[in-house]
Amino acid sequence: MEHSTALVTGTTSGLGYAAAHALAGEGWGEIIVTGRSLARVQETAAKLAAETEGRVFTPLELDLDTPSSVQSALAALVERGRPIDFLLLNAGMVPGKARVITEAGVEASQAPLIGHHQLTVGLLRAKLLSPDARIVIAGAEPARGDVPLFSFTDVAAFADKHFQGDRTAAIEDLVRSGPNATYKANRAYADAKLIIAWWAAALARRLPSGMAVYAVAPGSAPDTKASRNASAILKWLFIPLVKLLPGMTQTPQIAARRYLQASEFGTDVSGQFFASRPKKLTGPIEAMSHPHLHDRASQEAAWQAVVKVSGVDFSSAPHSSAVP
Ligand SMILES: NC(=O)c1ccc[n+]([C@@H]2O[C@H](COP(=O)([O-])OP(=O)(O)OC[C@H]3O[C@@H](n4cnc5c(N)ncnc54)[C@H](OP(=O)(O)O)[C@@H]3O)[C@@H](O)[C@H]2O)c1
Repeated sequence: MEHSTALVTGTTSGLGYAAAHALAGEGWGEIIVTGRSLARVQETAAKLAAETEGRVFTPLELDLDTPSSVQSALAALVERGRPIDFLLLNAGMVPGKARVITEAGVEASQAPLIGHHQLTVGLLRAKLLSPDARIVIAGAEPARGDVPLFSFTDVAAFADKHFQGDRTAAIEDLVRSGPNATYKANRAYADAKLIIAWWAAALARRLPSGMAVYAVAPGSAPDTKASRNASAILKWLFIPLVKLLPGMTQTPQIAARRYLQASEFGTDVSGQFFASRPKKLTGPIEAMSHPHLHDRASQEAAWQAVVKVSGVDFSSAPHSSAVP
């Protein structure tokens, strides 16, 4: 891909910051960096420019919890009118013990996907993604189902129990942390990342043919701010222990490299979830083959649930129109 314009979300710390830094090192012409507040992301852009001696960073305010903020960011991108070649949907968070619901009625760790969906669909509708654009969204290894302390909800069983088998309704309930969802922080995070993997697969079927999307787990990189809301046991026991074990953690710079690696993947693997090898949290990435990740009914249910919660749909197929 020609290293022209990239947009990275969640750059005020951690992997988004490291990715923006690495993109500058690879010679990208412009890197739009986003953060919840303009002041903070301007600071981030200035720091990145000083560290890389580059003048390639454009700060953009984007709070993914707030639909009006996504709309304002989209309006700014439309005004500038230049297409994006690499859309890196990195922002995300590990939720805390207390359930947090955004003003838009979405569980906090699920909210970045809703904002990312609104942003991506807005860019697609405005034709602001290059014909061969690459979209990478941050997944995480718990979506595989083999990470201790982070198990996800059995969506099919949850749907059968509460929604007469309707998986779209079940996933919507998880995204909103509604009346039937029992909130547990680690489970909410694992559910959020599983729904992201399904969403990417469903988006791949809707993208124009030259574009591609991948969910990518950056791997275990505890030296970011990701665990700021995490439980004391996770923060002060599990993570320090994991850091002592060889091969269990990596630097934010190495983790962020996975995003850049994926930006070079082809359309043949669009929609796949790339992560460390099964049961691993670092090392090389590969496409995951777990049957639950490839379950088309769950992928489509995730898409429809996100469409319902976000209020926007997209299809590039001829004769179908986007639903506002
Ligand atoms: N570090 C790891 O071990 C690891 C492992 C697997 C996956 N991941 C994923 O990697 C991504 C980056 O995490 P990180 O480790 O770099 O954590 P981090 O240091 O906490 O960075 C997260 C970034 O996302 C932003 N963000 C979160 N929610 C947002 C929202 N609703 N709207 C706008 N911005 C939002 C944060 O901004 P604020 O500071 O304003 O909240 C921050 O800039 C996440 O998706 C995470 O789930 C990380």
